[in-house]
Amino acid sequence: MSIGPQTIRPEPPGADERRRSYRAMATELDELLSADLDDVAAMATFVAVVHHAVRQASWTGFYRLVAPDLLLIGPYQGPLGCLAIELSRGVCGAAARERRTQLVADVDAFPGHIACDPASRSELVVPVFDDGGNLVAVLDLDSHQPSAFDELDAVELESLVAKLAPFFETDTLPEG
Ligand code: SME
Repeated sequence: MSIGPQTIRPEPPGADERRRSYRAMATELDELLSADLDDVAAMATFVAVVHHAVRQASWTGFYRLVAPDLLLIGPYQGPLGCLAIELSRGVCGAAARERRTQLVADVDAFPGHIACDPASRSELVVPVFDDGGNLVAVLDLDSHQPSAFDELDAVELESLVAKLAPFFETDTLPEG
């Protein structure tokens, strides 16, 4: 038997393993996100923890809502990301516009998907709210594997980003 060159892609971990991993992330974040951090420090810490624990993620980061129709890159881990995204565009724009998590199993089937990384195959974008319920950012996870994320990841990450709410000041968005 000859063994030729092959691409080894890890399978997405099973649900039980992911549940355990999200519980560990929650505990770690509770310890790390102390009251003396600001929003940037909290987001940077968050992406470092999540990116290294979510094995199937090739890119993990925040886009911040800096104007009513504009998302700007925030703290992230992974290759260079797009710098600015209008709310009318992409999966991130849809999550911000609709204030709803977007779970995209196949990015090529999502009209208007923005390919910052051409190797990206699936994506999960979760809106981030402040304590007043205002949208302040979106959390974007990309993967080189198709269908890398499911409802479990969506629900767990929604719960994790809720830990960031106290770090954002309310009512600071520019008028427009
Ligand atoms: N794919 C995203 C853009 C951000 S990057 O993937 C880091 C989108 O369609 O909104």
